[in-house]
Amino acid sequence: MFEHLKPMPADPILGLNMAFQQDSNPEKINLSIGVYQDDTGQTPIFKAVKQAEQQLIDAQKTKSYAPQAGDPAFLSGTLELLLGKELMQSRGAQIAAVATPGGCGALRMGAELLVSAKRDARVWVSSPTWANHFPLLESAGLMLVSYDYYNTETNRIDFDDMLKSLDQAVEGDVVLLHGCCHNPTGADLTQAQWDDVIDLLEAKRLTPFIDVAYQGFGSGLDEDAYGVRQAVSRLPEVLIADSCSKNFGLYRERTGAIIVVTESEAQTTAAKTHILTAARRNYSMAPYHGEGIVGLLLADAGLAADWKAELNSVRNHMNGLRNKLANELNSAQSIINFDFVSDSNGMFCFLGIPKDMVLALRQKYGIYLLDSTRINIAGLSDDNLPVIVDRVTGLLKGT
Ligand code: LMR
Repeated sequence: MFEHLKPMPADPILGLNMAFQQDSNPEKINLSIGVYQDDTGQTPIFKAVKQAEQQLIDAQKTKSYAPQAGDPAFLSGTLELLLGKELMQSRGAQIAAVATPGGCGALRMGAELLVSAKRDARVWVSSPTWANHFPLLESAGLMLVSYDYYNTETNRIDFDDMLKSLDQAVEGDVVLLHGCCHNPTGADLTQAQWDDVIDLLEAKRLTPFIDVAYQGFGSGLDEDAYGVRQAVSRLPEVLIADSCSKNFGLYRERTGAIIVVTESEAQTTAAKTHILTAARRNYSMAPYHGEGIVGLLLADAGLAADWKAELNSVRNHMNGLRNKLANELNSAQSIINFDFVSDSNGMFCFLGIPKDMVLALRQKYGIYLLDSTRINIAGLSDDNLPVIVDRVTGLLKGT
């Protein structure tokens, strides 16, 4: 039965992280997978999350099934966090949310819904995009095409090229957008650019599928939701894949939601049944634990305020490191102007160095970044930052 199977290649992110774990170099530095780390290199549990978890465990009287669509407090809490009360009221029953196993589960359920609705829909994805978008969406049966986004010559978004590419999309196509903290580049649309993209989607009758994995990691919870909120307030149809992995630090609990907005209650109700059917066929229902924690936390004003304060300090920590890296790289050499690093948002940015240097950093010095030159800003620390600057500068200067 299995004798003809050849091993699959390692995932570019999970595989690299595994290679890092297995590297015996005592000086190794992990800038690969997108996991937050504090100054001591730990990925802490948010205090408010830990308290909510304890309350959940203390109050829980059964492990019987939870509702298939997800914990109601989780669904209303995450919807309110993402869309805000007003929008939830104005679109009302045109909005439905279903809990999913993390952001990947949300993307997959969104993909399955799109396949049910329009098998031949093309999904436009930014070039570059998160390494798992292609395999995850294509294996659900969707056809993906790239739109221009980031210019590796200027290390900036090429917005004119983005609009030109998207102008080739046709009615019924889907456009995958990163809600904030673009992964892998950290280069986000400005609010004015979001407005222009939404104008284009509206004029060409395209449906946005917005991947929101870092709300709160960019400029703030509300600021990071700008694009999503504009899309939901202006467009008839929107799909959103929401993840709690990063902003609640619930990586291993696999907590997320797929949100569908259509132009009528009847369409939304039907769409939700397609999502629930796809979930049932794949894994029946999402795991409850993370949902329970987030639902309880967001319903408790005190815990929610504490979590927001912790999230702010996580963001400030990453911003401090990002600015320090850019400044120190700029002072150490003048071959590349690294201002684009300090201008990036969220957890990631490109380093924009030649590919052979990425390999040299990994093989000679045990510094792991993705082949695309993406680094996890949170992997930097006051201790390792001077080493990274020294190694990168040495390679750029050929010393
Ligand atoms: C990343 O991009 O590194 C994270 O989102 C983790 C993952 O699943 O790839």
